[in-house]
Amino acid sequence: MFKKRYGPWAVIVGGSEGVGASFARKLAKQGLNLVLLARKPGPLAELAEELRAETGIEVRAASLDVTAPDMLEQVRQQTRDLDVGLLIYNAGSAPPQPFLDSPLEDALHTLRLNAIGQVALCHHFGSGLRARGRGGILLVGSLSGCAGGAATAVYSGAKAFTQVFSEALWAALKPCGVDVLALVIGTTRTPFMERAGLALDHPEMPAADPDDIAQLGLDELANGPVRVPAHLEATFQALNSMPRSSAAELMTQGAQALQK
Ligand SMILES: NC(=O)c1ccc[n+]([C@@H]2O[C@H](COP(=O)([O-])OP(=O)(O)OC[C@H]3O[C@@H](n4cnc5c(N)ncnc54)[C@H](OP(=O)(O)O)[C@@H]3O)[C@@H](O)[C@H]2O)c1
Repeated sequence: MFKKRYGPWAVIVGGSEGVGASFARKLAKQGLNLVLLARKPGPLAELAEELRAETGIEVRAASLDVTAPDMLEQVRQQTRDLDVGLLIYNAGSAPPQPFLDSPLEDALHTLRLNAIGQVALCHHFGSGLRARGRGGILLVGSLSGCAGGAATAVYSGAKAFTQVFSEALWAALKPCGVDVLALVIGTTRTPFMERAGLALDHPEMPAADPDDIAQLGLDELANGPVRVPAHLEATFQALNSMPRSSAAELMTQGAQALQK
């Protein structure tokens, strides 16, 4: 059923580590063939080999940077002969950076990674999905998109974009048989977070398991436009309904608490 609706091929942007690798393992078990995209060739090749050996699916792994100017052309070349039924855009994130005290290029990079890449790939794959009348698009968002914090100006803005963009795509594509979901997540135990040295064992913000996050995304794919893990539902609702000054202060404190 899942494979018929979202197969035979899925593209996972940021599909080599953490939540992206969890998506890949779960889709491989469903029998979907995978295009895995990320920068570091090592983790990509290892995961591709593991999935081929354990599930027998076809895997195309390509090293590319989604912020590169020719990214879309590279993706087109990798996928032009494939029947893609599912796009998952997981690549994202940025360490907290005070906007005015960081180079402008850092802010623009954050936007390219978290927002512009989504626009380019949804535009490309969205038309194919609409034409075939079935399939899905899953964009990984963040609780940071519910309010701006002092050190997350561009990241929060980009993740707010992800959420609203998903809602719009959902409304446009639902009548065409294509599911769209923004999976809004909070602190999650991923290699990026470990490398950034962020606190993953904060008592008020325990880190989620990437496997649980990926499972939720796949389970809820048809129930868009926005889904949040159950343990974050109350925080999500509160952030969206409190006065905006309080939300911005809370987001600022939350980001500070993640710094060890
Ligand atoms: N982890 C958290 O606590 C958390 C919280 C809220 C929201 N999120 C969101 O969840 C998603 C995944 O989070 P994560 O980064 O923590 O872990 P992750 O699941 O480990 O994902 C990062 C993946 O994206 C790839 N990637 C990163 N930059 C890329 C680029 N420029 N071009 C191509 N691929 C790129 C990484 O591989 P390479 O490094 O090899 O490119 C890796 O495969 C992001 O959208 C993030 O904003 C995470």
